[in-house]
Amino acid sequence: MHVPVAIIGCGPSGLLLSHLLHVQGIDSVILERKDRAYVEGRIRAGVLEMGTVGLMERVGVDARMKREGIIHGGIYISVNGKRQHVNIEELTGGATVMIYGQTEVTKDLIQARLDHGGEIVFEAEDVSLHDIETAKPRVRYVKDGNPVELTCDYIAACDGFHGVGRQTMPSSKLKTYEKVYPFGWLGVLAKAKPVADELIYASHDRGFALCSMRSESVVRHYVQVPSSEKIEDWSDDRFWNELRLRLGEADAELVNEGEVFEKSIAPLRSFVAEPLSHGRLFLAGDAGHIVPPTGAKGLNLAASDVHYLSEALIGKFKQNRDDLLETYSDTALARVWKAERFSWWMTSMLHTFDDHHDFDGRIRKAELEYILSSKAGLTTLAENYVGLPY
Ligand code: FAD
Ligand code: DHB
Repeated sequence: MHVPVAIIGCGPSGLLLSHLLHVQGIDSVILERKDRAYVEGRIRAGVLEMGTVGLMERVGVDARMKREGIIHGGIYISVNGKRQHVNIEELTGGATVMIYGQTEVTKDLIQARLDHGGEIVFEAEDVSLHDIETAKPRVRYVKDGNPVELTCDYIAACDGFHGVGRQTMPSSKLKTYEKVYPFGWLGVLAKAKPVADELIYASHDRGFALCSMRSESVVRHYVQVPSSEKIEDWSDDRFWNELRLRLGEADAELVNEGEVFEKSIAPLRSFVAEPLSHGRLFLAGDAGHIVPPTGAKGLNLAASDVHYLSEALIGKFKQNRDDLLETYSDTALARVWKAERFSWWMTSMLHTFDDHHDFDGRIRKAELEYILSSKAGLTTLAENYVGLPY
């Protein structure tokens, strides 16, 4: 079987790319290692930039998001219990973000893909990529015990950080940049009312905390924990107590406890692979780069990558243009690096490091104080938070 574009991975980047191509009449097949329930149940990000919302609109998968998503025009930043509002909408001249879980984005995109006759092969095992430097790349996989081979014109590796796409690129052609942080985020999902009307990013001497939400009755909260921490050591009570301590006395009163139905620890990492393409293989989303979650850029970068990649593929299939494919990596990376900078900056300003009492720690404290007291500083934060233009 031949398909114009083989897409590896059924996360937000693979799904959105498949839709963006479909609305231009370009066929693709998505190969996904896991089953549908697993993919739809994976709890991750929750803040969509307007650019991401715009892409969902463009592919016509925006009805439920518009109904159930919550628009936020600001965030709160709390420092050792003192909370300040950052009016992002005002600082950016009208930009906002949308609170809508990645789980819901994925569910909506999968359903729409299937409704439009799109092909998603779940539980595709042992996916391997071949002849990527030729005009006829091939993808092999195993489905229900049977080997299958696809030929295609292009392969989009949207298969996340541990996927096969980046691993297939010759290591001599790939340069990677990485920073691993000495802490992770312990996150819980709970049936409770949000702490405030908007998200609270809390910097505290005990460590960072974030109060987010998925709806008016479901919250998503995080606390910074050392990388060595074990989830078994965090009872629900310990979590709620720690969250309250990091919010300070006044906001602690506003924390509504509720049934915790998901709890996990995610490591924090900054990572970029360059370039994002080799021959006819293109990397998009987490396959090519990772950001620490502070500032909610991971999912949104996946969306901007596939925006650029879809334009490049559409240019090729519709107008036989090669230039956008040739510049895809540079174009996408220019935006990726700015989001890497922002996520690193937010992470370093808001988290507690071991050098808390050293020079570097004091500089970070001064930087946060400066940013929060300066219109220019807050504007920088706001325009990055809502997402830089594509
Ligand atoms: P993914 O969502 O990872 O999708 C890749 C898909 O490829 C997966 O379905 C995977 O099963 C599949 N796959 C992998 N290997 C293969 C293979 N060999 N063959 C076939 N299929 C394969 N971002 C935020 O902004 N805020 C957050 O709070 C946040 N929390 C996160 C928590 C965790 C635990 C993780 C891992 C990420 C989090 N992120 C967060 C980041 C955000 O979720 C990602 O940036 C986003 O999912 C990237 O989308 P993607 O489609 O590129 O990759
Ligand atoms: C969420 C995650 C983030 O990384 C962030 O900055 C804001 C919100 C969330 O999961 O809701």
